[in-house]
Amino acid sequence: MDKIIVEGGRALRGDVHISGAKNAALPILISALLTEGTSTFSNVPQLQDIHSTALLLENLGARVETGADTVRVDAGGQIQHEAEYDLVRKMRASVLVLGPLVARLGKARVSLPGGCAIGARPINLHLKGLAALGASIELKHGYVEASAGRLQGTDIYFDVVTVTGTENMMMAATLANGTTVLRNAAREPEIIALADTLTQMGADIHGAGTSVITIHGVSSLKPVEATIIPDRIEAGTFMMAAALTGGSVTIFDSEPDHLGALIDKLRLTGTDIKIDGQVVHVNHEGPLKSVDIKTQPYPGFPTDMQAQFMVLMSIAGGTSMISETIFENRFIHVSELRRMGADIQVSGNTAIVKGVPHLSAAQVMATDLRASASLILAGLVAEGTTQVNRVYHLDRGYQALEKKFAGLGATISRIK
Ligand code: EPU
Repeated sequence: MDKIIVEGGRALRGDVHISGAKNAALPILISALLTEGTSTFSNVPQLQDIHSTALLLENLGARVETGADTVRVDAGGQIQHEAEYDLVRKMRASVLVLGPLVARLGKARVSLPGGCAIGARPINLHLKGLAALGASIELKHGYVEASAGRLQGTDIYFDVVTVTGTENMMMAATLANGTTVLRNAAREPEIIALADTLTQMGADIHGAGTSVITIHGVSSLKPVEATIIPDRIEAGTFMMAAALTGGSVTIFDSEPDHLGALIDKLRLTGTDIKIDGQVVHVNHEGPLKSVDIKTQPYPGFPTDMQAQFMVLMSIAGGTSMISETIFENRFIHVSELRRMGADIQVSGNTAIVKGVPHLSAAQVMATDLRASASLILAGLVAEGTTQVNRVYHLDRGYQALEKKFAGLGATISRIK
């Protein structure tokens, strides 16, 4: 398996371009299953998870063509209703095929995703929503088996704010008979991006980006050409890396409006951030100040940036409190950061991070994408050479991360 080798101590300087958002691309590519014809998506990032999605769609009978940053999905032929364990096991977001398959075919058999490193991650709310739309749901041999005639519009209340749950129900409801109202819906930019694509397909959706989304069902949807929004987590990771290393980085092709919580917290650390349209300039001089964060659904501080922010706090001047409220086990990076000299105590869902003068390089690894990114960040400031193992996780969600860091002056390379 590949490894990343990073030498600490260089301030990042220069320009970096942000790729399309993984978490917007996954549901949008899958939404093509709702149409009979060829949809073309651009600004699609080159990632392992995109490759897994293409395989999943092909396995369901769609034809998929992948270009440099485009993906064409032709779902015009016969679509079959089963998503196998091996595909779902590799990528939990595969569960997003449930809604479109039941809406289009009246049936779906999709492997239950199971837990993952960051938490149990049940899909009970996806299933509750589908049942409310009139599907009968059975769990058999590790699979969800759903069947329905035409889905019937209804009110669905989410006990917990769920991103893919909202997306799955939004896709299912587009072809339902009548009106569906999703309450306590997720408000992430990726939800708006999916709603925009579905609307372009002919769906009738109102309120995406608020906690109440109304979908008036239509009888069919047509293929589209759509562009994937910028990856806010990738942009945020580079912003934090610039601040961490005392650097000066200009970030192009991002959407600063999606980064409000991070920008606010970074400014409190003493980082200077200037926004000019889609361009963000990040500059940091002197020591970082400690700041508390608490992860929350959008527009709160994203759980997908908690691990990286913890690295900043690990060398900040003071003590910070980091609370993780979304996933029950998303402190996987703590033990590895401690091995690099960080002073972090965890109690329940809170980490108390006492800043230390410097981190020291080590061999590390993590079993989660964002935790792996945090270890690269730690390597950028640690004294010595850090080796990050199990790069597989990084490749699921960051396009050419080490090349982009090298372009900013980091001494970083990949060993095959
Ligand atoms: N939850 C339930 N029941 C459900 C669904 C969710 O209890 O049926 C709980 C989860 O266990 C969790 C909370 O609700 O405690 C929120 O989970 P959510 O469903 O929102 O997460 P997700 O949709 O599975 C997406 C992103 C994650 C990101 C989370 C939170 C995609 C493909 N994945 O996951 O991204 O962390 O929302 O923002 O959109 C990543 O990119 O590294 C990543 C993990």
